[in-house]
Amino acid sequence: MHKLIIGNWKMALGYKESVTLAENLVLSQPYRPLLAEVGVCPSFVALSSVANILEGTAIFWGAQDATQFVPGPVTGGTSLESLVELDCRYVILGHSERRQLFGETDELVRLKLQAVLERTNLIPIVCVGETLAEREAGQAEEKVGGQLRAIFNSVVVPAGREVVLAYEPIWAIGTGKTSTPTQAEAMHHFIRQFLKELGIEGNRILYGGSVKPENAGQLLSQPNIDGLLVGGASLSADSFWSIVFA
Ligand code: PGA
Repeated sequence: MHKLIIGNWKMALGYKESVTLAENLVLSQPYRPLLAEVGVCPSFVALSSVANILEGTAIFWGAQDATQFVPGPVTGGTSLESLVELDCRYVILGHSERRQLFGETDELVRLKLQAVLERTNLIPIVCVGETLAEREAGQAEEKVGGQLRAIFNSVVVPAGREVVLAYEPIWAIGTGKTSTPTQAEAMHHFIRQFLKELGIEGNRILYGGSVKPENAGQLLSQPNIDGLLVGGASLSADSFWSIVFA
């Protein structure tokens, strides 16, 4: 399976900046064989325009979140169906910023995951990760295992469907502190084993948290790191392509 590199633009860019970045990505794609699968997740307001720009290129697109509700009276919501309409390939679920800033729980992430699998063909990218306090207390695996158990509880992953996991230690997101490749590899190995016990196999497991052109190659060379979820360093076309070709 190809490595998967996803740019998570978060709420860092306005509409016009997002369009410009999408255009720059297309214009500056290096003339080298692209061995990885590449996608970007712009904000909702820019998603449709970015999709138009990326259509027919090697870059896929997706959303940073969605509601689990079916289309209807849900003020402020974004339905999974509307993402399908925009030909999204991915939807990120349970990013730690959604959990910290919007109070999302494992149970809500579980409902969203179930909705994605039941109602769409989108590839869910499910985020898990521990805080610094949990890591320092030696509870990182316990935390991540607990998240996985709660999120996948009674969720049926149909044969042939991929659920991508993203391990993002909260202490490494936007802080400049990256998990060492060895630390990340150990957690990815743990996640793979844990999922296997839940009967879920063949997933790509991405690492996220202060990924940069300088550390991407080493992270990607680890056997259980199948790709990267990149925030800050995906906001410039040059640094994003440097990561993809690391
Ligand atoms: P960062 O964000 O690369 O800016 O640390 C990663 C993420 O939160 O997906």
